[in-house]
Amino acid sequence: MTILVTGGAGFIGVNFVHDWLAVSDEPVVNLDVLTYAGNPDSFASLRGDGRHIFVKGDICDRELVDRLLAEHRPRAIVHFAAESHVDRSIHGPGEFMRTNVTGTFTLLEAARAYWGALEGAEREGFRFHHVSTDEVYGSLTADAAPFTETHPYEPNSPYSASKAASDHLVRAWHHTYGLPVTTSNCSNNYGPYHFPEKLIPLIIVNALAGKPLPIYGDGRQVRDWLYVKDHCAAIRVVLERGRVGETYNVGGWNEKPNIDIVNTVCALLDELRPDAAGPYSRLITYVADRPGHDRRYAIDARKIERELGWRPAETFETGIRKTVQWYLDNQAWVSNVQTGAYREWVERNYVAR
Ligand code: NAD
Ligand code: TYD
Repeated sequence: MTILVTGGAGFIGVNFVHDWLAVSDEPVVNLDVLTYAGNPDSFASLRGDGRHIFVKGDICDRELVDRLLAEHRPRAIVHFAAESHVDRSIHGPGEFMRTNVTGTFTLLEAARAYWGALEGAEREGFRFHHVSTDEVYGSLTADAAPFTETHPYEPNSPYSASKAASDHLVRAWHHTYGLPVTTSNCSNNYGPYHFPEKLIPLIIVNALAGKPLPIYGDGRQVRDWLYVKDHCAAIRVVLERGRVGETYNVGGWNEKPNIDIVNTVCALLDELRPDAAGPYSRLITYVADRPGHDRRYAIDARKIERELGWRPAETFETGIRKTVQWYLDNQAWVSNVQTGAYREWVERNYVAR
């Protein structure tokens, strides 16, 4: 048996691949085109491990996807590949439409053809799992109830609109063609191998370099944060026993305003890597807000707990400590991703702000 993972060189995908191979001998075919966010260094420790088959390629390439399915005959596809950064989607939405919408469509069509030709137990057991986000539900007011799976879709950014579109495609391929799909909508992840364009790794990396810690707007926007390995465990559980055609919201029961997150990271760095110049919070700098910035996301994760028995294992306190320590221990990984392209992005997003 084999599974096909897309986007397994990115943040969540690579954590999923590591965790999968740590608990199972079932091989993983990892299809990733290696955009700026895909990093082969993140699976360097798997070099020579025959259970990990890396294929550099695009999910929009139907011929390639057909060939991989025919060759490896996976029992499941776990679809992570996406453009994932809201700020980049504001600067350039085109790639988001191509990968998130057309790419998901291409995979669904290839999966439909492949699954349609399977028989018996192979056909019965096949799953297409789509990894999505809580951002498709839009923004909550301070006192609104957290998102359940039946909350209306109200995406506000080009990123969330493209993910909402992909969720709708997945739903329709099940409803119309019977493709055995599951979908998970998860809150903000943090942990190892997180590209330092997203809030938590950006704050760690900038603080260590003595650079400003940019806070958009008033810093009171609220996100729910989940340690990435808990998300990976949730996906494994959905793949194993999730009901076909269902969606599951995944979250950490951990809503916090951005400024609190940044202060927590600064306090941990003060403890683990004190700076002679003073507390890291001195670097906090308020900058112009993100256009259309969603005020609050919150996840009601009771369905996955009730039906599948999943709950996060980490608290924010344990997860963020592991994360900060990981960045301190993996400075070479960090400097390798800070290429010219990374510096251009930082210039584009922050300098004119
Ligand atoms: P990421 O940006 O770190 O990684 C995305 C990966 O997809 C990269 O390795 C990239 O090279 C690859 N990719 C992009 N376009 C591709 C294409 N056309 N063909 C093949 N590979 C391609 O993203 P992430 O944070 O790991 O997110 C993974 C998935 O989880 C996404 O679908 C995202 O929407 C979803 N999600 C992310 C979060 C989060 O907090 N990061 C939360 C909920 C859901
Ligand atoms: P981000 O990590 O980009 O995730 P998302 O936008 O998908 O939630 O941002 C998390 C929050 O942090 C979001 O409210 C925007 C805010 N933010 C900043 O205040 N400064 C920054 O430099 C970045 C990247 C994000």
